[in-house]
This record gives sequence, C-alpha cells and structure tokens, in this order.
Amino acid sequence: MRGIILAGGSGTRLHPLTHAVSKQLLPVYNKPMVYYPLSVLMLGGIRDILLISSPQHLPMFRTLLGDGSDLGLSLSYAEQARPEGIAQSFLIGADHIGNDSVTLILGDNVFHGPGFSRLLHDRLRTVDGALLFGYAVSDPRRYGVGEVDAEGRLVSIEEKPARPRSNLALTGLYSYSSDVVDIAKNLRPSPRGELEITDVNRVFLAQGRARLIDLGRGFAWLDTGTHDALLQASHYVQVMEQRQGVRIACLEEIAYRMGFITAGQCHELAARMEPTPYSQYLMDIVG
Ligand code: DAU
Repeated sequence: MRGIILAGGSGTRLHPLTHAVSKQLLPVYNKPMVYYPLSVLMLGGIRDILLISSPQHLPMFRTLLGDGSDLGLSLSYAEQARPEGIAQSFLIGADHIGNDSVTLILGDNVFHGPGFSRLLHDRLRTVDGALLFGYAVSDPRRYGVGEVDAEGRLVSIEEKPARPRSNLALTGLYSYSSDVVDIAKNLRPSPRGELEITDVNRVFLAQGRARLIDLGRGFAWLDTGTHDALLQASHYVQVMEQRQGVRIACLEEIAYRMGFITAGQCHELAARMEPTPYSQYLMDIVG
C-alpha cells in the first residue's frame, strides 16, 4: 500500500494567513497541520509516501519532513503546478503507485478517535476498489455526501449537493486499488476545470466496488477550512492532550509504536531536539 498526501491548493479562504505560507503548514495547536494526515497514513502501516504540493510550497515540506528516514519512512515529493483537482494526485503519483494499492489523504484533514489505528490497520490491507470514510455532520452541503441503504451499502455519491440525501460527509481519506490511476486518466474535468475525486468514486460505485465505513459518533473529523474551524481544531487537540497527557499525531511516537524505529532511535531523535515538553514527552515514552 502506497500513500499520498495532497497538500496543495491556494488556501484562499484563509487569506491573509495563507498568503505566504501553505495552509497545510499552519499550526493545529502545537504541530504543523500536515503532521495529522501523515500520522493517519503511518497508523495504517503505510511507509512509502508521496507528498504533493504547489511549486511554491513544496520546499517548505521538504525542510520540515526530509526524506522521512528519521521516522522509518520513505518520503518523496512532487509538484502540482496548478490546483486542478484532488484526483490529479493519481496522475502525478502514477509512478509512485505502480501496481500497488494507494491511500490518499488530504493534507488539511484531522482525524482522531478510539480504535482508529486498528480500523486503519485492518481495513487498508485488503482494498478492492474504493474504500471511503463517512462522518455525520450538521452541514453536509459543504462536502462530498454518501447515501447508504438500510444494509449500510453505499448507493449514491454527490459533491456539495444543494439538497443532500444524507448527513454523511465523505472525508478526505480514500483508499483504492491500483486501477484508480486508469480511472483518473479517463476522467473529464468538471465545469470548474478540476479532476474531481467524487467522479473517481462514482466510477467505482457504478462498478459495485465502492465501500463506505462510517466513522461513527464519538469520533473527531475536524475541519480546518475556516478561521473558526482552524481554531476549534487547535482547541480540540489542546483539550485532549492536556486532559490525557498523551499527544495526538506525534510522528516520532507513532514511528516507534508502529515499529518503524527502535526505542534507541526514538530517544536519539528526542535528544537531538531542543529541550521542550515535546522532546521530554518522547524521552518519557521510551524510558
Ligand atoms: O475534506 C473533505 C472534502 O474534500 C470532501 O468531502 C469533498 O468531497 C472533496 O471534494 C473535498 O472538498 P473541499 O471543498 O475541501 O475541496 P478543496 O478543493 O478545498 O480541496 C481540499 C484540499 O485539497 C485543500 O486543502 C486543497 C487541496 N487541493 C485541492 C485541489 C482541488 C490540492 O492540493 N490540489 C487541488 O487541485
């Protein structure tokens, strides 16, 4: 299973915050936003990851994450010249995907909840077609929306419908078998000139090969698309971390717990950092 993080776009809704800085590098409480989606792929056991961003912002991601070897990952980078759609990821990442299956996550999506790592671990191994993740929201009109039948089977998908058929938003986490590349190659751009992820999902749905997992109540899928939502995401992470004394999306910790790096390597990473509560947390974990 290969991973792709799509972290481009122009972030216009967050201007002037994103005038000079990539949206996906803005802080969500105490970490850059991209840590959160990267942690999701890592929890799914995915180590071979392509990060796609605009030519302007790509160097900043390289500076932040390097080649990933410190975390036991293999990170590579590719430019998206213009934001021409989420599904363009599969054209840009075609060589990276090869004959493997692939999980795409949007660089601005924050997921957190009980049993998530087990769910990812179990479900990302055996993807045949498309695996989508749904989350009930109060305003589904802002998202891709999935309609399910009485047995929980996906029956329709619409992008930002004026009259949603359900309140189940499709999150920015998508897992596909390798033929997603051919499907993306045959897509026509939407009226706004983009290769839409919803059109990819519709092809799989028409083939009877799209499945949806409802993340359920008690799970957090947080938005970062507006100033208020961004602040709320930070507050969520702050509250959870301070209450429980654990860190959300601490990449070094996840790399250690997933067995990508040893306790010694994790300790060394912490020792290399300036002494902060973050480095102390890592030291405490490995003992
Ligand atoms: O967050 C989940 C939603 O993401 C889904 O429910 C929708 O079905 C899906 O279309 C998408 O909706 P958005 O309105 O959030 O899409 P947006 O165009 O804002 O792009 C999402 C992120 O991907 C954003 O951080 C920018 C980045 N992006 C987007 C496009 C179109 C790119 O990096 N390149 C692109 O070409």
